[in-house]
Amino acid sequence: MMTTTMPNFLLSLCILESLLHAFTEVNVQASEFQLEGDYLVGGLFDIHHVSTLVYHDRPEAIDCSSPLFLSSYRRFQVMRFSVEEINNSTELLPNVSLGYEIFDHCSDIQNFPATLNLISVNGSIQPWSEPHKNLSRVSKVIAVVGPFSSTETLTVAPLFMMNLIPIVSYGAASSAFSEKSKFPSFLRTVHSNKNIIEVIVNIILHFNWRWVAFLNSDDEFGIDGLELFIKRTENTDICMAYIKLLNDNVNYTRMFKQIEAQKINIIIVFAPKRTAEALIESAIRLNVTNKVWVAGDTWSLNEKLPKEKGIRNIGTVLGVSQPVVAIPGFNDFIYSSKSWNDCENAGQKFCNEFCNSSSLSAEDIVFIDPSFSFPVYSAVHSVANALHNVLQCGVGKCNSNITVYPHMVLAELKKSNFTLLNQSIQFDENGNPKFGRYSIVFWNHSGAIEEIGFYTFFPSINYVIDNNKIQWYTDGKVPSSQCSRECPKGYAKRQNGIHKCCFACEICPNGTFVNSTDDHYKCVNCKDTEWSAEGSTSCSLRVVEYIPFTDIGAILIMCGAWSFIGLTIATSVLLAINYNTPVVRSAGGPMCFLILSCLTLSSLSVFFYFDKPTECFCILRSLPFILFYSVCLACFVVRSFQIVCIFKMAAKFPMLYSWWMKYHGQWLLITGTFVTQALLLLIGYSCGPPKPYNETLWYPEKIILSCEIGLKANSGPVILLLFLACLCFIFSYMGKNLPKNYNEAEAITFCLFLLILTWIIFATVYMLYRGKHIQTVNALAVLSSLYSFLLWYFLPKCYIIIFQSQKNTQQYFQGLIQNYTKTISQ
Ligand SMILES: *[C@@H]1O[C@H](CO)[C@@H](O)[C@H](O)[C@H]1NC(C)=O
Ligand SMILES: *[C@@H]1O[C@H](CO)[C@@H](O)[C@H](O)[C@H]1NC(C)=O
Ligand SMILES: *[C@@H]1O[C@H](CO)[C@@H](O)[C@H](O)[C@H]1NC(C)=O
Ligand SMILES: *[C@@H]1O[C@H](CO)[C@@H](O)[C@H](O)[C@H]1NC(C)=O
Ligand SMILES: *[C@@H]1O[C@H](CO)[C@@H](O)[C@H](O)[C@H]1NC(C)=O
Ligand SMILES: *[C@@H]1O[C@H](CO)[C@@H](O)[C@H](O)[C@H]1NC(C)=O
Ligand SMILES: *[C@@H]1O[C@H](CO)[C@@H](O)[C@H](O)[C@H]1NC(C)=O
Ligand SMILES: *[C@@H]1O[C@H](CO)[C@@H](O)[C@H](O)[C@H]1NC(C)=O
Ligand SMILES: *[C@@H]1O[C@H](CO)[C@@H](O)[C@H](O)[C@H]1NC(C)=O
Ligand SMILES: *[C@@H]1O[C@H](CO)[C@@H](O)[C@H](O)[C@H]1NC(C)=O
Ligand SMILES: *[C@@H]1O[C@H](CO)[C@@H](O)[C@H](O)[C@H]1NC(C)=O
Ligand SMILES: *[C@@H]1O[C@H](CO)[C@@H](O)[C@H](O)[C@H]1NC(C)=O
Repeated sequence: MMTTTMPNFLLSLCILESLLHAFTEVNVQASEFQLEGDYLVGGLFDIHHVSTLVYHDRPEAIDCSSPLFLSSYRRFQVMRFSVEEINNSTELLPNVSLGYEIFDHCSDIQNFPATLNLISVNGSIQPWSEPHKNLSRVSKVIAVVGPFSSTETLTVAPLFMMNLIPIVSYGAASSAFSEKSKFPSFLRTVHSNKNIIEVIVNIILHFNWRWVAFLNSDDEFGIDGLELFIKRTENTDICMAYIKLLNDNVNYTRMFKQIEAQKINIIIVFAPKRTAEALIESAIRLNVTNKVWVAGDTWSLNEKLPKEKGIRNIGTVLGVSQPVVAIPGFNDFIYSSKSWNDCENAGQKFCNEFCNSSSLSAEDIVFIDPSFSFPVYSAVHSVANALHNVLQCGVGKCNSNITVYPHMVLAELKKSNFTLLNQSIQFDENGNPKFGRYSIVFWNHSGAIEEIGFYTFFPSINYVIDNNKIQWYTDGKVPSSQCSRECPKGYAKRQNGIHKCCFACEICPNGTFVNSTDDHYKCVNCKDTEWSAEGSTSCSLRVVEYIPFTDIGAILIMCGAWSFIGLTIATSVLLAINYNTPVVRSAGGPMCFLILSCLTLSSLSVFFYFDKPTECFCILRSLPFILFYSVCLACFVVRSFQIVCIFKMAAKFPMLYSWWMKYHGQWLLITGTFVTQALLLLIGYSCGPPKPYNETLWYPEKIILSCEIGLKANSGPVILLLFLACLCFIFSYMGKNLPKNYNEAEAITFCLFLLILTWIIFATVYMLYRGKHIQTVNALAVLSSLYSFLLWYFLPKCYIIIFQSQKNTQQYFQGLIQNYTKTISQ
């Protein structure tokens, strides 16, 4: 911006000299642009706007004559009124007259004569000669009100910053001016774009709109607005579907076609009044229908557009506006000043201190868009109040000894704190207003602008929209604007392309959920202790299941175990009493007691299958059973081996037989098995001890507390157990046709058969079912393995001892053996 202004700056300097001479001799009293006073307030108003610059080959003053902007002219009159009011007041600046020097800032970049005039003192600009030395001569202009637009301000502001001449803008909203290191003497009485964007974003969020177009002017104001909007909407659900810089080259036909093609229903227009008017008029002309237009404060109170024919076809217009503040006395001022109609008659003029307002009526000025009037009014009053403080004015008089420098006024301006029309005027540290609010307006069907809500920043953020006052083009329903329809509950969004508003919906699989208040784009896994069905929005706690000791099945099985122990003890006692009978001896004699005690010890395992498993429980579930049952099986292996093979061994391998007898081979074997199994268990369990394990895979809504069956830890012991069982089965099967009654082998075979059947059934159930009752089944299988030996091996013997004692004699046994040898020898 500044680079383009430099040549013009030099050019302006050339013109300046001649113009300044002319100016100083002017008969000033009649012009609307000037008022003499002890102190002057500069004013810059873009009453005209020269949009197309003509090329000159020699320096020429700019001709500001057309076209005239009525709302700017109104603001210009507000300034005049304010100064006059202050001048009339006996309180604010008693015995001090305040004047003004106003220029028509009709071009963004060619208004340096006016600017230079304001910063010059007695016709010349005096730069600082040395650092930290103040001006020896004092300018009469103590502050400048204006300019209006951000672009204009950006062009001229640096010149004022140089001497710290305060400029109080009533319209430059670009957030760039908040940067005090670049604009130290800049203040404003309009809110920065940041605030208005905040309000616009809040309106959009309020109506749940997602898919919006942002049309902004191609200047400092519009581009700043766009940047702020992008930044503000970054972490919201709002998507900018369409962005367009509005300048002279925009093809409105194409633009509206593109907006239509993208199905965008919400159009934010962030542009100065002129640009917005051109846009809306072309929208009406091009038959754009069914849109919601969101207007910034530059055009939301437009006096012309709401009355335009066809404005209702384009849809609904909402806007953010400055509140309409009636300035008491202003209308009278206009009516009385228009009656003089002296503008034309003013004598010689500075090139841009002229306006032909003869064709305007007072009504034109009174009823034009009142936006930015209060900012002008408060700007002038801020300057006057600052001057009041600088001059230490009291009742009736001010200290006339004080030399007023602009920077002193600036210091007081920053500290401003006074009440104007019931508003407390203050500035924050960046020179932004700490007062005022925004109105939210709606253009109703009768061509009027209705206030439907407001947004305040001070003292706290407060925000109201009355939805009922809005008549939507859709007849009641709030129009929607979305790229993709919202997903049903439990579905996560998957973004299509660059906009997060455009997405496909995917159902969240079981075990995951989508948090509808947090991230819509992700299916989050549930915690281990939770579960969810397909398409969930939250997880539910899993039910924790295990078999307590009080469970009826558990009680039955534990009773079974107790009665097993009881029966075992009873059997042991019975066998001990009849120790010397042939039945007991053939059953194994002392080995019986070993077997019975091993079975009892094994039965301990049963009790640990219930209640919440702990590490200790898990170990005790398997360890006693595996260890003592192995010993038990080893005893039966030895028993069946002796029954079947001992005779053959004696015959064929007498050496081995004598060794077996001499060293008590059977006991060695049993001890060996015990030691091996104990070692295997020790090694296995120290590598990977059985741990409590939460079964979560089989039933999504449950946690089944069980024990991990460590394959590593258990495989050695179990293989040994299986090996023993097989060995036992083989030996006993070989002896199945030994003499009846003497035949333990048959009983052992049957027991093993039951044992194997039990565990095959258990394995089958385990394949199909993993509910909590698997623990009961497991305990039942253990118990059944124990009972099978007790019932089918020891019980028949007890029966013979008690009821058939005639069979429990030496003779009977010998008879049997003789029978057998006979059958064999036949
Ligand atoms: C200022 O005072 C003059 C004369 O007393 C009066 O005509 C004029 O209306 C006053 N202006 C304002 C703005 O009060
Ligand atoms: C007002 O100012 C003039 C000169 O500017 C001075 O002569 C006069 O005494 C002052 N009046 C009061 C009341 O201070
Ligand atoms: C402004 O004030 C001065 C001095 O107080 C007075 O002479 C002059 O008439 C006033 N001007 C207006 C327009 O009221
Ligand atoms: C302004 O300049 C004129 C001549 O150029 C001179 O007579 C006058 O004293 C100067 N005024 C001030 C306040 O310097
Ligand atoms: C301006 O300079 C004069 C003399 O050079 C000095 O007396 C005065 O205090 C200075 N004013 C300020 C505000 O620095
Ligand atoms: C504007 O765009 C439309 C459609 O894309 C095209 O037909 C028309 O010629 C364009 N107008 C200009 C002035 O480029
Ligand atoms: C605008 O649309 C209306 C109805 O949709 C139609 O009757 C009219 O002819 C259109 N006008 C133009 C200029 O396309
Ligand atoms: C202003 O200065 C004069 C002389 O220098 C002095 O007599 C007078 O008291 C001063 N006034 C104030 C208000 O300081
Ligand atoms: C502004 O002035 C009012 C009273 O005039 C006072 O209560 C308030 O504290 C002042 N605020 C600041 C920030 O100085
Ligand atoms: C999800 O649940 C359904 C039915 O409840 C089931 O068929 C499917 O296998 C489950 N999928 C997963 C990944 O758990
Ligand atoms: C969803 O996210 C919000 C915000 O992060 C959080 O407060 C809430 O607890 C979450 N809900 C669930 C079910 O996780
Ligand atoms: C199993 O679930 C229970 C209950 O939710 C919990 O207290 C325990 O920590 C879990 N154990 C493991 C190993 O995850």
